[in-house]
Amino acid sequence: MIHYLEMTPDHLPDVFHVRIQTWHHPHGAEELDSLGITPSAVRAMIQSTHRGWVAEADGRLVGFVIGNQETGEMWVIAVLKAWENQGIGRNLMRLVETWLASEGCQELWLTTDPDESYRAVGFYRHLGWEDWKMEDGDRYMRKRLFRPAHHPIQRS
Ligand SMILES: CC(C)(COP(=O)(O)OP(=O)(O)OC[C@H]1O[C@@H](n2cnc3c(N)ncnc32)[C@H](O)[C@@H]1OP(=O)(O)O)[C@@H](O)C(=O)NCCC(=O)NCCS
Repeated sequence: MIHYLEMTPDHLPDVFHVRIQTWHHPHGAEELDSLGITPSAVRAMIQSTHRGWVAEADGRLVGFVIGNQETGEMWVIAVLKAWENQGIGRNLMRLVETWLASEGCQELWLTTDPDESYRAVGFYRHLGWEDWKMEDGDRYMRKRLFRPAHHPIQRS
């Protein structure tokens, strides 16, 4: 049974563990550090502009997602390999998208790997995200949550 909970600072050691385990090379810890993504930085984020959710199985954190309501960015999502393909990523994405929509974000965006073979790229496309642009070596994708209202032409 998977439980979904709002992320609190107490989750951050396990959140970092999951992100490092799911990094696309073995030096995730060093790379996060060099980007300034530390537990204390993320603590400050989830206490202000960001909000996250965790997925727990048997009391163990197996996945998480974090979004930024200030910019509409789906900042990060990760699910441990052993727990992939069971709908956890989809449920986490629904939680963050629903929250961002409730904050008034009309268009969400994310950055991911340019490599087409990256599992996350197919996952995002499958969940309705579209390719937007390539910039500074990153693939940007976006998702419009609200379509402009259709106003039929009034004929007199
Ligand atoms: C990307 C990731 C979050 C997906 O999590 P997950 O729990 O395996 O995803 P789900 O099982 O919820 O998949 C949801 C749907 O997407 C589909 N899907 C997943 N990967 C897919 C792919 N590469 N191509 C097409 N469809 C895909 C699933 O089949 C499922 O379809 P369904 O719900 O219609 O049956 C996970 O693989 C992961 O953490 N990867 C490593 C970390 C990472 O790359 N994070 C993103 C950094 S940019």
